[in-house]
Amino acid sequence: MQTFYVKTKVCSGDGAMDILGNFAGRNAVIFTDAFMVKSGVAARVAGKLSNCADVRIFDEIKPDPPIELVANGLQFLLDANADLVVALGGGSSIDAAKATILMAKRSGAKDNISLIAIPTTSGTGSEVTSFAVITDREKGVKYPLVDEELLPDYAIMDPALVVSAPPRITADTGFDVITHALEAYISTNANDYSDALAEKALELAFAYLPKAYADGNDLEAREKMHTASCLAGMAFNAVSLGINHGIAHQLGARFHIPHGRANAMLLPHVVRFNANLDANFGAKQETAASLRIAHIARRIGLSGDDTNALVLALVRHLFYMLKMTETPATLNEAGVTKEAYEAVKAAMIDAALKDACTATNPRPVTADDVASILAGLARW
Ligand SMILES: NC(=O)c1ccc[n+]([C@@H]2O[C@H](COP(=O)([O-])OP(=O)(O)OC[C@H]3O[C@@H](n4cnc5c(N)ncnc54)[C@H](O)[C@@H]3O)[C@@H](O)[C@H]2O)c1
Ligand SMILES: [Fe+2]
Repeated sequence: MQTFYVKTKVCSGDGAMDILGNFAGRNAVIFTDAFMVKSGVAARVAGKLSNCADVRIFDEIKPDPPIELVANGLQFLLDANADLVVALGGGSSIDAAKATILMAKRSGAKDNISLIAIPTTSGTGSEVTSFAVITDREKGVKYPLVDEELLPDYAIMDPALVVSAPPRITADTGFDVITHALEAYISTNANDYSDALAEKALELAFAYLPKAYADGNDLEAREKMHTASCLAGMAFNAVSLGINHGIAHQLGARFHIPHGRANAMLLPHVVRFNANLDANFGAKQETAASLRIAHIARRIGLSGDDTNALVLALVRHLFYMLKMTETPATLNEAGVTKEAYEAVKAAMIDAALKDACTATNPRPVTADDVASILAGLARW
């Protein structure tokens, strides 16, 4: 049996932020980062929580939240006796809040904490997922926690909050959306429900990411990307991801390559692998996954005479988008030295195979396969 449900109430459009006024008498903590405090957005959100008994701001979130940050967050949450957490920021703020609440519940320290997620990037979809990615800096590993308890109660989708994201962050996070939707679409668990969400997310993201990147003030493009991010989140929350994320988590943990950028660099090579093309992008046997990838290529307006031509059109389009957004295509361009890469390559391959996301990749993956995907980026 498969089940499909979206627990999170998604609020969008004019007045979405006003639901923050519905939590009278609660003790609220806003989990966010220094940028959101400096830009005044955190204070605006705190203002909307004026019916709460107490509102405090935990502003220590850093990209790729480490375990220690979650421990600090838990202490802050307990000191505030919080029963409402508002996560304001990118995936890092939302994931840190989710992991902290889970820790509070699991340790028996505190139950009944509501979570409202307000994403300020259009990327992770964390506002509607039961995933939270936490980093063990000492071991150089990113752990995707997967637990239904991690699902936020509300998501407030306000594209105006994303306008301040510079082109670099817009591109990185936008590629995360595309990767989520594409991996969900070809996941071994994919079904008609997740397909509908993933296809729409891909249609929107391929059309509007270039616009949002070119002009961050294009509010229509921001809104469409924000919607795409949330739809892609719903899709992969239902059917999980694949080897692209399995490897991207290693590149993030080892070399601090931002999550979406790591996905972007890998994606053309993973599409190549999943569509059963050889390492030189030469065609082999058609597969169920290559047919589905070809369908997406057609859906976003690319053309080709047969399945392999469509797959190649998509691979070329992804390389073009990397170039257009000045996204690194190799580890060298991402600032990783050959020596640093060689030193951890074997450990990364091992961890990628064990990563929770890899289990639903449409094509079974071996260590040699991961090495062949990484070889596409390992050029100095
Ligand atoms: N939980 C999930 O389902 C899920 C899915 C994919 C990725 N992730 C995780 O999420 C994290 C990445 O999240 P992210 O890509 O949203 O980036 P992020 O939250 O790490 O933020 C990246 C940078 O962007 C800045 N920023 C965020 N919003 C901004 C805005 N509106 N204007 C200006 N600057 C802004 C932040 O201050 C930060 O410096 C990674 O740890 C990744 O592993 C989680
Ligand atoms: Fe992701």
